[in-house]
Amino acid sequence: MRIAVPAERTPGETRVAATPETVRKLVALGAVVAVESGAGRHASIPDEDYRAAGAELGSADTVLAGADIVFAVQAPDPALLGGVTPGAWVTAILDPFTRRDRVDAYAAAGLEALAMEFMPRITRAQSMDVLSSQSNLAGYKAVLVAAGVYGRAFPMMMTAAGTVSAAKCFVMGVGVAGLQAIATARRLGAQVSATDVRSATREQIQSLGAKPIFVENVAGIEGEGSGGYAGEMSEEYQRAQAELVSAHIARQDIVITTALIPGRAAPRLVTDAQVASMKPGSVIFDLAAPQGGNVEGTVPDQIVERHGVKIIGYSNTPAHLPADASALYARNLFNFVSAFWDKEQGRPILDEEIGDAIRLTRGGSVVNPRLQG
Ligand code: NAI
Repeated sequence: MRIAVPAERTPGETRVAATPETVRKLVALGAVVAVESGAGRHASIPDEDYRAAGAELGSADTVLAGADIVFAVQAPDPALLGGVTPGAWVTAILDPFTRRDRVDAYAAAGLEALAMEFMPRITRAQSMDVLSSQSNLAGYKAVLVAAGVYGRAFPMMMTAAGTVSAAKCFVMGVGVAGLQAIATARRLGAQVSATDVRSATREQIQSLGAKPIFVENVAGIEGEGSGGYAGEMSEEYQRAQAELVSAHIARQDIVITTALIPGRAAPRLVTDAQVASMKPGSVIFDLAAPQGGNVEGTVPDQIVERHGVKIIGYSNTPAHLPADASALYARNLFNFVSAFWDKEQGRPILDEEIGDAIRLTRGGSVVNPRLQG
């Protein structure tokens, strides 16, 4: 079983899909691991560390030749994969709704493309959940970046020269990223409030010492919604939410938005008029920027100033923490492969529940129901 780790080629992608730690563990399982020279450069992992962990190093063509599994962060260019074993796995965050051309090319090449972001949200798959591992870091980084751009301090400070008041930070969307954003803003000393459509998050917000801001008297999503995700809300809910946000947002200094609905554009939570109601110098970090943004006016990878408010959106926030994001992502991939490792056959064999959820292509066709029609 040969596992190949090519360097990422997408501009701005700094992560790598294996670390010396996971190479060592994969080798211990019985795999041969081949890493493209320089693959760990942006994540501060020198080639020698991979070699010391038992990896072969070489050019992309050399490491990919005869590979049974390709480990990548983003969908690798199909043109790179000419030398892999027929039916090889391509294991990555494949982003199939925007990169359908690559999925079709994997199918045409007879590869088995596995979208790690389609991992079902079930307890036994938690350690393989790349969305969680990366969102957690993104939530943390968003607050730090916002704090860096903000022209004031986060904590209240009582000094001989007078008192500096605490920043007010509002987190919209309390999934994995939002929870980490709340915790990080609290650690920095901000006064934090947060909102979500899932009523189950109310207690989570409170347990982190933040104030829940919820739409009352209109049904939200009780509990977790389907698969733990939110769905699109009714018009009535959206109206009530907009009113609530308008009343609250004008008093906030920092807003971190994280709201996502799987397979759809991000819901619009903050309008230009609401941005205009905020004090000059306020900062918004829109973590939903890659999915179209929660905030009117967000431009990915730019800091836009609207009505004196800075709006920040990164197209790939986890890539701004390359070492930790790679370490967690690489462990997700190792946990995935090792959970299904069949000792006798010396290779992983997927079960139906997880295989059917994440498999996009097989035997020359696109097979995932989420990509049909
Ligand atoms: P996500 O990234 O899909 O969305 C972020 C948040 O935005 C969610 O909390 C969602 O409810 C919220 N949202 C959506 N539309 C909104 C709107 N109009 N207004 C305000 N908020 C809105 O969510 P994420 O981070 O992936 O987590 C979703 C759930 O899945 C959480 O309950 C999490 O604990 C659970 N989960 C379960 C896992 C497992 O069991 N393996 C692994 C990871 C997460």
